Amino acid sequence: MRNHKDALLAIEGVYHSYLPGTPFERRSLDGVDLSVYEKETVGIIGPSGSGKTTLLFHCNGLLRPQRGTVRAFGIPIGEPGAELRDIRRRVGCVFQSPEDQVFERYVGDDIAFGPRNMGLAVETVRERVRGALATVGYPFSFKDRLTSRLSLGEKRRVAIAGVLAMDPRLLLLDEPTAGLDPEARRDLFEIIDRFKRRSGRAVLMVSHRMEEIAELSDRIYVLVRGRVVLQGTARGVFSRPDLLSENGLSLPAPAQTVRLLQERGIPVRSGACSVQEAADTIEELFRDRT
Ligand SMILES: Nc1ncnc2c1ncn2[C@@H]1O[C@H](COP(=O)(O)OP(=O)(O)OP(=O)(O)O)[C@@H](O)[C@H]1O
Ligand SMILES: [Mg+2]
Repeated sequence: MRNHKDALLAIEGVYHSYLPGTPFERRSLDGVDLSVYEKETVGIIGPSGSGKTTLLFHCNGLLRPQRGTVRAFGIPIGEPGAELRDIRRRVGCVFQSPEDQVFERYVGDDIAFGPRNMGLAVETVRERVRGALATVGYPFSFKDRLTSRLSLGEKRRVAIAGVLAMDPRLLLLDEPTAGLDPEARRDLFEIIDRFKRRSGRAVLMVSHRMEEIAELSDRIYVLVRGRVVLQGTARGVFSRPDLLSENGLSLPAPAQTVRLLQERGIPVRSGACSVQEAADTIEELFRDRT
């Protein structure tokens, strides 16, 4: 059992309401516990309006917990004296539609914005920009491109590079592949992978795409109306199709295939998360017969 104290991010009993004390008060988080450990990729899924973005806002101090505690790297967010600057250096956030925040004329200046603000030396900033461009799959010369001429996918990568240039240890991603075509989505998976290969990094990502969460996450939280209704490994979560469908969430295609076979009385194992796992599960069936 891992000790909660070792978590990079530890959220305990967090409640949040928008517009508290007004007739429009709306509870968006209803007692959430969540943790992220070193080297992990943790996924959050949930229907629209379930509180996913609100929860991410609590992870780097954009919102303070109204009740409960949030600790990032041991620092209690929201308590008097908490060093939000330290937290924001270590927790990088790629919010929904990050391309809207690309505002400099040249790609290089946009990526350098964060590191320059941190007061880093010119040479260090240059290295950060070079490294971040490499992680998102571009050569250093890409720094001279005009941001106004980029495609949506390119702009999003530049926005992500700007966050990576701050050298975060925990990366938060809110619907990072929304609106991208399958190829750009693949590229993004590789970016996340390259980020994780550096030592001690962790990722917390939100997505409503089951396939994507299943493929990338070590653990998954299912958030519904501000509560965690299910959590565990992808295999564990996707072997609860009833609970998911009750909440308007559908299984990823491989898990759905396995379930259809089960419904027809074919004894395959539940919870396949990738096409490969579904194929292996089906193959097992034939192996047992021979
Ligand atoms: N600034 C705000 N003021 C008032 N209510 C808000 C505000 N932001 C979000 N809400 C409400 O809080 C609830 C949770 O919103 P949130 O954006 O966290 O959900 P989400 O799971 O990220 O949804 P989506 O999948 O659509 O991005 C929703 O009911 C939403 O309408
Ligand atoms: Mg959201």
